[in-house]
Amino acid sequence: MKFSEPMFKNNELKDQVIVVTGGGSGLGKSMSEYFLSLGAKVVITSRNMDKLNQAKKELIDKTCGDVYPIACDIRNYDEVENMLSQTIEKYGKVDGLLNNAAGNFISPTERLSANAFDTIIDIVLKGTKNCILAFGKYWIKEKQKATILNIITTYAWTGSGYVVPSAAAKAGVLAITRSLGVEWAKYGIRLNAIAPGPFPTEGAWDRLLPGDLKEKFDVSKKVPLRRVGEHQELSNLAAYLLSDYSAYINGEVITIDGGEWLQGAGQFNMLEKVPKEMWDMLEMMIRSKKTK
Ligand code: HXC
Ligand code: NAP
Repeated sequence: MKFSEPMFKNNELKDQVIVVTGGGSGLGKSMSEYFLSLGAKVVITSRNMDKLNQAKKELIDKTCGDVYPIACDIRNYDEVENMLSQTIEKYGKVDGLLNNAAGNFISPTERLSANAFDTIIDIVLKGTKNCILAFGKYWIKEKQKATILNIITTYAWTGSGYVVPSAAAKAGVLAITRSLGVEWAKYGIRLNAIAPGPFPTEGAWDRLLPGDLKEKFDVSKKVPLRRVGEHQELSNLAAYLLSDYSAYINGEVITIDGGEWLQGAGQFNMLEKVPKEMWDMLEMMIRSKKTK
């Protein structure tokens, strides 16, 4: 068994209707592919219908699954309500919402215009809020059990320079996850989040490591496990959190980053750089400080 193999194999999401925002590219497309292979009906949404149609074709070629693309800018609440109505019209119900769509780019914060800052907050925090609010109201009205999964990042709680609007927005999404995990449990609506570490995608890599930054900064070196993530690993976790197998997990955030953020956090993790052969000498020096 390899970590990059599918975890579930037998239609574990059969007939579940799952909406994946940003489902036409990157991680959203990979997760959609896995849900389809597990028998789910998947609605993929983003702003770009051509991209969605192309993704639909690829996903059907790979899985023969039931995938439905809907153009929707999640910044616009009316478009989100319309996307929800189209989903219900097509499938008669919706069981899961994967808030995966995001916008981000690196920049020293003082270089950002007010509109640039707002653009990221509008997509990541307000867009996610729009989807959660529209779908939540619907499920509560219909008295239907449902699951919401939000893709955030580890800097939602550590913060990070150069991606400040994204950090602020993802922190907000984490707060919504924990808050509504409690408030909406009485309606049978579960909310969780996943905080991925580095998982190469064109969308993220071209905006966060443009040009030769990719070569300059070997991202895998920041990860104790010394590798980046594979899309299937993330898809396995997402399928589990959207399935009934995780029915008792609620209001939680699960990190999948090979230990990346903890390596940055532990005060003495820089000792990783001390050569093995130096440790005898260091131990002797420490022991010599003993007074009695
Ligand atoms: C400074 C910038 C900028 C940049 C845009 N702006 N790019 N400012 N540096 N590199 C400014 C613009 O000048 C404008 O402000 C404002 O931001 C809005 O820009 P638009 O291009 O009009 O916005 P829009 O067309 O809505 O596009 C949104 C976008 C774009 C975020 C800028 O990159 C996009 O569509 N992204 C979607 C996909 C994406 O970002 N994927 C990566 C997710 S990765 P002014 O003042 O001039 O009007 C991710 C990883 C997290 O989240 C964690 C990793 C570990
Ligand atoms: P990506 O391919 O660029 O995905 C972002 C998606 O969001 C795109 O499909 C984009 O489609 C959609 N989107 C952007 N703005 C939108 C809007 N206003 N309305 C609707 N859809 C919109 O990048 P990715 O790496 O797969 O990222 C997916 C998620 O993982 C994001 O939440 C990101 O923060 C998170 N993440 C990624 C990594 C990583 O290493 N890759 C690490 C941590 C977290 P359109 O442009 O067609 O609208």
